[in-house]
Amino acid sequence: MGELTLYLIVVSVAIVLGSFQFGYHIGELNTPKSVISCEKLPKETISHDDNSLLPCIPMEEGEFGLLTSIFNLGGLLGSLLSSRVADTKGRRWTLLCNNLFLFIGSTMMGFANSYSILVIGRVIAGIGCGVVSVIVPMYLAEISPAEYRGVFGVMNQLGIVIGILFSQIQGLYLSNIPGWRIILITASALSIIQTILLGFAVESPKYLASKVGGYQSAKKALQQLRGKTEVEDEIGGWLQISEEEGLEGLINNQHDEDNISSQQQQSSSSQDNIEERISTTSEPTVVFHARNPNTDDFNIWKFISSPYYRPAFKVLLLVQFTQQFSGINAVIFYSTTILSRLLPTSSDLITVYISIMNTIMTVVSAYLIDKAGRRTLLLYSISLMSLASAILAFSITYELALLSSISIIGFVATFAIGLGPIPFLIIPEIVDTRAVATASSLGLSINWISNFLVAALFLEIRGIFGGRVFYIFSVYLFTAYIIANRILPETKAKTVEEVWHGWTGKYIKS
Ligand code: GLC
Repeated sequence: MGELTLYLIVVSVAIVLGSFQFGYHIGELNTPKSVISCEKLPKETISHDDNSLLPCIPMEEGEFGLLTSIFNLGGLLGSLLSSRVADTKGRRWTLLCNNLFLFIGSTMMGFANSYSILVIGRVIAGIGCGVVSVIVPMYLAEISPAEYRGVFGVMNQLGIVIGILFSQIQGLYLSNIPGWRIILITASALSIIQTILLGFAVESPKYLASKVGGYQSAKKALQQLRGKTEVEDEIGGWLQISEEEGLEGLINNQHDEDNISSQQQQSSSSQDNIEERISTTSEPTVVFHARNPNTDDFNIWKFISSPYYRPAFKVLLLVQFTQQFSGINAVIFYSTTILSRLLPTSSDLITVYISIMNTIMTVVSAYLIDKAGRRTLLLYSISLMSLASAILAFSITYELALLSSISIIGFVATFAIGLGPIPFLIIPEIVDTRAVATASSLGLSINWISNFLVAALFLEIRGIFGGRVFYIFSVYLFTAYIIANRILPETKAKTVEEVWHGWTGKYIKS
């Protein structure tokens, strides 16, 4: 427990409140749907005469669908915008300012008196969630002690699933007039709480260290987080790769093992070495940026086109795409609809069980992630989801009520164990600091677009195939398993440098 200080925990909670808000917005519209859209009130009774708040906002089914999915458009914008800001202004500053989007969006929704204000508010809140989806996993990874990196990574997904659960529980009690407005305004309150808590947080020391002249402030921030003064060794670990002229240097030298190991020896994180550097250069600028003049120009195109990042890009593409094309949000958004014909009285309750199971298994994943490893958990998760999805398709098609509820819960449980948290936490483990914000933006944009496609198309495709639609997810997952088995590295307890080392030869030569 040595490195888990109270201050580190408070800072982590402040950061994770971002994921919590993200999850809250995912779940906020589900249960109060019929109340918000005036399904329960005849339209003539809704007057526009005075300035008071309307009891509900009249809208058709299709308009409600748009309101739900337009969130993804905001998310995509937010995820694309965030990397540059995070790299120039810092992780903490980005999250702090981002609460303005979350606050304005949620407040507009909560006080909306027209459909268009509701939609605009939802897009703005979506932008905030897009920023959160990129920054939170990165910030958490950058403050976590090496041996807790997995647990800290899972905290992001845990924040999301608890946020979903919280909004669903609120929905059970507040799906009335004017309760639905309280549900939406609760999100504004969450953004205020996060702003206050972030006021006490330090900036990511890794980010600080990557800035010219940022060594001292990085050291100070790390001392606060670790609750001790001797932090040079840890910063020294980050120095190693910059000593080798960045990962590109490592890859260029791949054929010369001796060269690499002698460089590693030279750049070993020994106290002497670092202190010598501090005394000679007074302000060493550390981490990958130091020797790359193009750092500030780094962008998505460079990441995609550079052969150095190709293996990481493939993994990133696979895990982000698979997280959404597993069909998870078909279940999270539409489980009640999916089960309502087979289980008309208990489908609401099963939806809550699904969220509880999602939360419990995410906690189990936090426990297992640093023991079993990322690759193992992901492979189990993807293959078992493929199986659960096939059983779900079979049971819905043949109207086997009990089997369909067991398999839908199994589907979410196997998601939560691997495919839920790992796509987020693996990015900083396969990409160096120079590229991590860009890679996260790209990865999360892929995630948001795939999420939008599944959310928008699922009901249509289900209309054609019925429950058999889950066979499509099952086949996709099986294919993804075969590819993942070939290309996924194990990143547990490894530095980015070590992960890349394992890749050289296999990918870079081709
Ligand atoms: C992940 C996905 C999100 C999904 C959630 C369900 O966070 O990114 O789209 O709703 O898991 O637990």
